[in-house]
Amino acid sequence: MNSKRHPAEPFRIKSIESIKLLSENERAKKLTEANYNLFQIDAENIYIDLLTDSGTTALSNKQWAAIMLGDESYAGAKSFKRFEKAVQDIFKHKFVIPTHQGRAAENIMFSTIVKPGMYVLNNTHFDTTKGNTLHKGGIPLDFPCQQSKDSSNFPFKGNMDILALEEAILKHGTDKIAMVIMTITNNTVGGLPVSIKNIREVSALCKQHNLLFYFDCARFAENAFFIKRYEPEFADYSIEEITAEMFELVDGAMMSAKKDGMSNIGGFITLNDKELFEQLTELMIIVEGFPTYGGLTGRDLDSLAVGFYEAMDEAYLEYRIGQVSYLGERLKEIGVPIVEPTGGHAIFIDAGALLPHIPAEEFPGQALSTAFYLEGGIRTVEIGSIMFVEDDSETGKTILAPRELVRLAIPRRVYTASHIDYIIETAQEIVRKKESLSGYRIKKQPKFLRHFTCELEQLNSKKIKA
Ligand code: F0G
Repeated sequence: MNSKRHPAEPFRIKSIESIKLLSENERAKKLTEANYNLFQIDAENIYIDLLTDSGTTALSNKQWAAIMLGDESYAGAKSFKRFEKAVQDIFKHKFVIPTHQGRAAENIMFSTIVKPGMYVLNNTHFDTTKGNTLHKGGIPLDFPCQQSKDSSNFPFKGNMDILALEEAILKHGTDKIAMVIMTITNNTVGGLPVSIKNIREVSALCKQHNLLFYFDCARFAENAFFIKRYEPEFADYSIEEITAEMFELVDGAMMSAKKDGMSNIGGFITLNDKELFEQLTELMIIVEGFPTYGGLTGRDLDSLAVGFYEAMDEAYLEYRIGQVSYLGERLKEIGVPIVEPTGGHAIFIDAGALLPHIPAEEFPGQALSTAFYLEGGIRTVEIGSIMFVEDDSETGKTILAPRELVRLAIPRRVYTASHIDYIIETAQEIVRKKESLSGYRIKKQPKFLRHFTCELEQLNSKKIKA
């Protein structure tokens, strides 16, 4: 594939949604009114929204047609049967529990199997998975592979560190470990994939120690595509075959289907263990709904039943991964440092490296993400010391994030080649005036998850003028 040019979209557009670019003055006004927090800006005032790839997918004509078949019966709906059949066909496990989104699946699973003081081991927990583990009194531990920390081009930087995992199993003992999870792709390290080789090794280790091994498989199809591309054994396999191969190695999976379910809402748990399935079902009835809808409408279930297959379409995946890689390559060319190699669903810009004159304490990621809005009406998200600040329990000192990043998450089938070029042109303008960007100070913040609601203030005299 030639990443010099944006891949041609393997679809044409049948229905459109207008978007509007406010004037620079209006954007400056919205930004100050939002206290420089992009979560506080209304979506109608955003031109290109790269906040997340979750639930932001454009549906296909086949999904809209399937939606019209939605059966809204409370119990035993035909929509559920179609959803269940698709999940069983693709992921090859017997039992299927629908949930309204990924974190609901996590809540049901961890409420059932995590007892206070027990460990959950993961390549890298996504923040809701971490939050749900902590919420049940569990202890989340991450084992990202060593290569995830270096600057090599190793394609499977999402992998788990097997030696560190084994050490932790021996140290804590199997009775204290609730489960081992492999997050595919590994969102937190950059949307990077995990190889089958690594999944096989973790699976063997879990079998040896009699530990439950599950996937957090929000982006399973993107992961399978990277396996096809970079693991020679699978070069001639279809994405369906690779998916089957991956899922044979686990006891079950939890999924946020708002990503590779190609739909706007949804999730599930799938597994083979009847006893655990029955326990999970008891709780799901209390918190999510009857087992044949799990917090979803019949039409959502039908959209998903079609969407899982569309996510595995190779022409789509070539375009999807190609779009992300095109954006990454062009950004590098204009001098924007990014996390490499590029992954499945997003580009992560190293704002700390781009803006060395702004110290981490003054949030270079926030300086860059506000610049994207001011310059181009583009919403990105800071993944740095505003989002990931911790207090050292011993010294009471603030621990900043390891890196000051900004994530540009790409919604599926939503933005065209020209939108991507517009993002690149905006970045070019920011690079040109980067020395004039200034840092921020937090004026007001809540106790938890401060990035959603905190209020900020610009630090030096070159303030944004409304
Ligand atoms: N697991 C992973 C790997 C995720 O990326 C997410 C969500 C979840 C679980 C939780 O799923 O949102 O359906 O409850 N990630 C989104 C993101 C929010 O922007 O990366 P959910």
